[in-house]
Amino acid sequence: MHERPQSIRIAHLSDLHVLDLTGTAPARFLNKRVTGVANLLGARRDAHPIRIAEALPTALGPQGLDVDHVVITGDLSNLALESEFARAKQVVTSLGGPERVTVIPGNHDVYTQGALRSSRFESFFGQWMMPTPVDPADLERVRKAGRQHYPFAKTIAPGIVVYGLSSAIPAPPIFAWGEVGSEQLSRLRGLVAAEPPEIHTRIVLVHHNLHTRSGLSERTSLLRDRDALKTTLRDIDATVLLHGHTHPPQQHTLAGDGSTWILGCGSSTWYKPAHDHVAHFNVLTLGDDRGLREVQSYKWNDTAGIFERDRSDLMQSATQRPLSH
Ligand SMILES: [Fe+2]
Ligand SMILES: [Fe+2]
Repeated sequence: MHERPQSIRIAHLSDLHVLDLTGTAPARFLNKRVTGVANLLGARRDAHPIRIAEALPTALGPQGLDVDHVVITGDLSNLALESEFARAKQVVTSLGGPERVTVIPGNHDVYTQGALRSSRFESFFGQWMMPTPVDPADLERVRKAGRQHYPFAKTIAPGIVVYGLSSAIPAPPIFAWGEVGSEQLSRLRGLVAAEPPEIHTRIVLVHHNLHTRSGLSERTSLLRDRDALKTTLRDIDATVLLHGHTHPPQQHTLAGDGSTWILGCGSSTWYKPAHDHVAHFNVLTLGDDRGLREVQSYKWNDTAGIFERDRSDLMQSATQRPLSH
């Protein structure tokens, strides 16, 4: 008889920012993308080399860490172009099918009103954002729903459910803020209320960070309803919230509630050695009794072309940094 596993290992990736402008008509850059392209040619030039994204499937597969599940918390693209999504989809497909991989969108994946209106992200990645096994008939439903699709619920192991939110909304040039919205939070509460009794671990995915940042980023790039999300996380007794958006890794806990972890793995493709920026991902070990047992961080070694263990104790540093209210 097959025994229930004692623990599950989940890799958390984020902010792949796969760049591919192939076949894009110049006229499509005559909108907010003007600033995005300027950014890609300037400060962010070669900041997310594709070789790192393409090293992830090996690092996490049977020849590597052999994790049970992979989640990606948004910003798979830069400009929400079909060419970028097609290239990013190759990477996601190499990581695994919907039974092994879960994704959500980030602000760069809904970069323009056109991307939002056409449900472009949902069209490319719908199968990784629904319960498994995937019914192909439901893919069209996800595409039609667009932002109304969120939050989705996906049971990834006995007793462990992932809730995927979308904080991705188009923002004016130079802004990168996000919003979940009261409708999604209300639907999340409804999904939790309807859970089967065997669910003991709730993993919530959202792209934007919940902590306060310094400088201009705090005003231009924040999750506008983060306080409402924090209240909801507390009310639904979330085990862990996983986020992206901030490219350096982050570890926090909800203030006054040490049982909910708030973890940002950082960008999993970032490489700007002159600024000491390097790609990271996390591997979370969860027990079968509602609890995060361990979080290990891995970082990119460009000389060796592999990810290797980063020695910091993430759970200890998280407990020392409660989110401020
Ligand atoms: Fe990002
Ligand atoms: Fe972002």
